[in-house]
Parts: sequence; structure tokens; C-alpha cells
Amino acid sequence: MKNALSFSLADFFYNDSPNVLTPPSDFLEWIQDPQIQAGFSFFHQMLLDAPRSVTKIHSNIDGKDRRVINFTSYNYLGLSTHPEVIQAVIDGVKKYGMGASGSPMLSGTFDVHVQFAKKLADFKKKEDCILFSSGLGGNVGALQGLLRKGDILVMDEKIHKSLVDGGILSGAKMIFFKHNDMQHLDQILSEHKGKRTLLAVEGVYSMDGDLVKLPEITQMIDSSYPNVALYLDEAHSSLMFGKNGRGVGEHFGLEDKVGMDYGTLSKSFGGVGGFICSNALIVKYLRGYASAFNFSCAPSPAIVCGLMKSLEVATRDSSLRDKLWENTKYFKDKLQAMKLNLGGTQSQVIPIIVGSSGELLFELATELQLKGLFLQPVDFPAVPAHERRFRLSMTAQIEREVMDEALNIIEDVIVKKLKAKGMLGE
Ligand SMILES: Cc1ncc(COP(=O)(O)O)c(C=O)c1O
Repeated sequence: MKNALSFSLADFFYNDSPNVLTPPSDFLEWIQDPQIQAGFSFFHQMLLDAPRSVTKIHSNIDGKDRRVINFTSYNYLGLSTHPEVIQAVIDGVKKYGMGASGSPMLSGTFDVHVQFAKKLADFKKKEDCILFSSGLGGNVGALQGLLRKGDILVMDEKIHKSLVDGGILSGAKMIFFKHNDMQHLDQILSEHKGKRTLLAVEGVYSMDGDLVKLPEITQMIDSSYPNVALYLDEAHSSLMFGKNGRGVGEHFGLEDKVGMDYGTLSKSFGGVGGFICSNALIVKYLRGYASAFNFSCAPSPAIVCGLMKSLEVATRDSSLRDKLWENTKYFKDKLQAMKLNLGGTQSQVIPIIVGSSGELLFELATELQLKGLFLQPVDFPAVPAHERRFRLSMTAQIEREVMDEALNIIEDVIVKKLKAKGMLGE
């Protein structure tokens, strides 16, 4: 295909083939192009070991199994592989078996679901909590369960796809404001003043690692739009931000302004699932209307046993959080000293932005992986075309020597190449 690299998944969304089971013909031509296949080979690579900071993958690049330093897993606090968490899952699986074998309403609610939901609600200082078997399901379910045609859903343009999909399903009118742009947000809210409105934002934005401007947003709501409800997705901030790890809401001292406090259980918690903490009545309402809760099997009770232990380990003291922030600072300082473009990161999510060339991104990704660094390229349309990047997830569990080894590889591959191309300041 001519100029295959100038196309992306964004170009084949609409399908005009007469049979819905046939993808667009130009999509097939595009996806089979050798350059595109090489790009896609970075995705769906098999991990052969646990998602630790050093793990083993089967590399799609050269077909070999290799030890890699892993910056791609969201096991931010190392809880997926924490010995106490693993033991809790083993005990749970022995008692409850593998799956819940039923939706929450009929036969899928176990004692551990009720206990865990109560612990999460207490932890988040809210009245109640609803558990979902996936993080994405939690966002989709909440918006579909809460909003109706005629309602207004205002979202930051960088919001996660699960909230966009939930918005589409709900039938609400969706309006996006420019990322963290308070003036634009104010303009949109004022245009829809008086209508039932939900404002959805993320605590830590997942591609950039920057924080929501919560003080400005809550101040704006308080002063001008008291009926606007605030939905905060703390997927990348729960257990990590705030003195007690309650998230970005706690970090800013504004938890009580957050109407719906969403979290995933797949990242810092190290398991799988999603949850929303809020007032008791709206949680009761959601239990009736959120299809992802009602019409889906409940989370595995054995995994919930592990998640309960994750919550306990992460909150009994601040050691894991402290270690995460110590590692993040160490690594970021070194990357900044190399003059790499880290965007506006304020968290453990650290982008290394390499610019507009997809070819360069994948060339660098190949070299990094062959040298033993598992650092996924993030291409357009997941990020703007001029801001293609690597996105690095820092963890509490990584050793200093391993960080140094990774920094050497980054210097040897990314810094060297960007310097040679004149894309890095001296
Ligand atoms: C901001 C945000 N919200 C929700 C989700 C969905 O969570 P999960 O992957 O656990 O389904 C993600 C996942 O990447 C996310 O980044």
C-alpha cells in the first residue's frame, strides 16, 4: 500500500463493505503492509512471567524469549506479586473456587464482595461502594446507569475510552473541553447551565501523567454551577496519591467535592475489576441500572480476597507509596538531565515524547526491546500525531541497579538517536 505509514486505525472506523462481517478492503490492504505489520508486532507480545519490574517476554520482534526490564505494567505498587496478596488469593481460591458463577443479583454476591465494598467505601470516606468485574465495565456501567437522553456529559478531551463509551451508551449529550482548559470548561458549563450535568475527569491522565486541575474545577462548580456533579476517575491515582493513598481527591484536600469516586482494581491494586464509591442512595440506584454490574458475572471471590489484602498492605503504612515516589523522582531527574521531553508529567506515568515520526518511534522501540527494555511505543490515534511517545510506568518494586541499567539503555538508544537527528538540546 502506498504511504501505509500515513494511515492509522483512526482511518478505518467506518466500514462501507456490504457485509458487516467483512472489514473495509483498504483496511485489509493496510494491515497486511509489512511496515504496518512490523508496527503491530509490538502489541500483544506474550509475557512469560509475572508483571514484575524484571520479567520475561516472547518477543514478536525476533521471535526470541528474553529477560526484559518492564516499564509497561501498571503494577505500580508491586501488589500483583506481593507474597501476602498471592497467599490471600490461594486461600480464597481453595475456599471459593475460581469464579463467582453468577451475576451479583442472583447468585454472584459472596461475603467477600460485601466486605470488600464496605472496606473500599470506608477507605474512600464515602457511604457505599459498587464493585464491577472490570475497570472499563465500571465506567461504562456508571455512565449508562446514571445518565439519560437530554442529560449533559462534559468530559476532558483526554478522558479514557471507557467513559466515552459509557457516554455513548447513555444517550446523553457529550461535550469535550480542551485538556485541563478551565476557560473552555467554564464556557461549556455556562452554555448548558440549568441542565442535568455530569462532569467527568481523571485524577492522573493516563497518557500524559499530569493531574486534573481539581481546585479550579471545584471552585468553579461551587461558585457558578452548584448542580453539576463531579465524577473523578482515580484509575492511576488510587493507593498512590494523598497522605493516606486515597487519591488525587485527597491530595488536593477536596474529596468531599467528588460525587462519584471511581477506581480500577487492575493497576495499583494488582488484580482486576472496578469500583465506584458514592452516596448510599445513588449506589443503590446504580445497582439497579448499571448493566455491567447487573448483567455480568461478579468479580472472582478469590481475586477479591487478594484485592482485600492489597488494600490492607497498601494502607497499613506509607512505605509502598514512599518508595514509588522516591523511584519516580530518581528516574525523572535522570531523564530530565538527558533533556528528554517528558511533557507535563506530575506522576508515576512518565511519557518520553519523541515527536511526529512513526518510523522513528518504531525504530527506537525495536532497538530498546532488543537491548532488553520493554517500553511500549504509543502511536496516533492514542496520542496526538505530533506527540508520539513511549509511556513509562514507574513502580515501587524496581531496584536502583535495574533503574540504572534501564537509564543506560535509554541513553544509548533514544538519546543517541535524537541527538544525531538534532532533536535534543545539548
Ligand atoms: C483512566 C482509566 N480509567 C479506566 C480504565 C479501565 O480500567 P481496566 O483496565 O481495569 O479495565 C483505564 C485502563 O487503562 C484507565 O486508564
